[in-house]
Amino acid sequence: MTLYLDHNSTTPMLPVVRERLLELLAQDLGNPSSVHTSGRRARALIDDARAQVAAALEVPEEWVLFTSGGTEANNAALQGAVLGAPSGEAGLVVSAGEHASVLEPARALQARGHALALAPIDSSGVLELDRALELAGNPACCVISSLMANNEVGSLAPMAELSEGLAALGKRRPLWHVDGVQALGRVPLELAAWGVDLASFSAHKLGGPLGVGLFVRNPRAPWAPLALGGGQEGGGRAGTENAPALAAAALAVELAVAHREAYASHTRALVSSLWQRLDRDLDVILLGPPLGHPARLPNTLQLLLPGLSGEALVARLDLEGLAASVGSACSSGAALASHVLLAMGATKDQARSSLRLSVGAATSHQDIHRAGDILVATVVALGPPAVHE
Ligand SMILES: Cc1ncc(COP(=O)(O)O)c(C=O)c1O
Repeated sequence: MTLYLDHNSTTPMLPVVRERLLELLAQDLGNPSSVHTSGRRARALIDDARAQVAAALEVPEEWVLFTSGGTEANNAALQGAVLGAPSGEAGLVVSAGEHASVLEPARALQARGHALALAPIDSSGVLELDRALELAGNPACCVISSLMANNEVGSLAPMAELSEGLAALGKRRPLWHVDGVQALGRVPLELAAWGVDLASFSAHKLGGPLGVGLFVRNPRAPWAPLALGGGQEGGGRAGTENAPALAAAALAVELAVAHREAYASHTRALVSSLWQRLDRDLDVILLGPPLGHPARLPNTLQLLLPGLSGEALVARLDLEGLAASVGSACSSGAALASHVLLAMGATKDQARSSLRLSVGAATSHQDIHRAGDILVATVVALGPPAVHE
């Protein structure tokens, strides 16, 4: 059986969520907008799912919109904030370590004339707070987007400090969007208390089905919808809803939030034991904040293996039955250097030599032991870095 250490890419669906989804797929459910009984049954499922998600995120129900995933939610946040901006230049500030689903819409908006500023991250992948606040204070800025937990290196943004700093901008404060896709169910989240205006999440990163995202929006935030033509989701996202998938996603969100602390201590212990093994037997560099640091996701271990190609290593590990990732984008078969590592100050060669291992609730200590054996043997077989004397 494959040893799956790629939970930041997607997590296997929780068995109880899969059961719920299958049970709902077997039911007679109509179009949720239809007024007949089977339509109303589907509508009730969506209403319940929204209430379940709102309770888990501690926000009012009308803040929650269902989307097709984190990518759509991020696009809705940035494009919708610009489209809905009251007046003026409608510029954007996004952190340099953002996921492509924030960076690319931001660049597309820039190409259409909206000013874009990149807020730097430091050498451990953490947002540089003072610079981010300075950029956000520019009166031309209508939205700042900050990645709460970096999907590659697992660094966390200073949320409480950002919240305070943005509040101190007073009338100049732009909308605040948070990509929380890798954070939900892994670290504490206080959207309403922090004053977050827009946030994005994705069900398949926490044991839910693929193809369901959450776009959380404070209705007071000036924003305009992108998908029009049906009035669903309170007019915020038109299109016939996939009621069974939304219900299954809501269950996954509820469970992830309820079990967050157990998840964090379990995955932190696994990551620490894997790191100890690799650090003992290989010349590897840990990327991101130090292990156990509060600004770090518990389940993510990104390594630099100088002199090795991350892509080649991932392919070799796959042959050995271990699923891992480089964490960076791959386009037309050509390995691209990770933009996150480059923003952290890595050279292009270093940025192509990374390996991301991400564990989950179902990963066992035995899995980690086996993974350590496979990793050490595979890296040694590929050549440098040399084994310690
Ligand atoms: C930080 C982050 N944001 C957004 C996304 C996109 O989410 P989805 O796969 O649901 O479109 C991902 C997926 O890898 C992610 O890691």
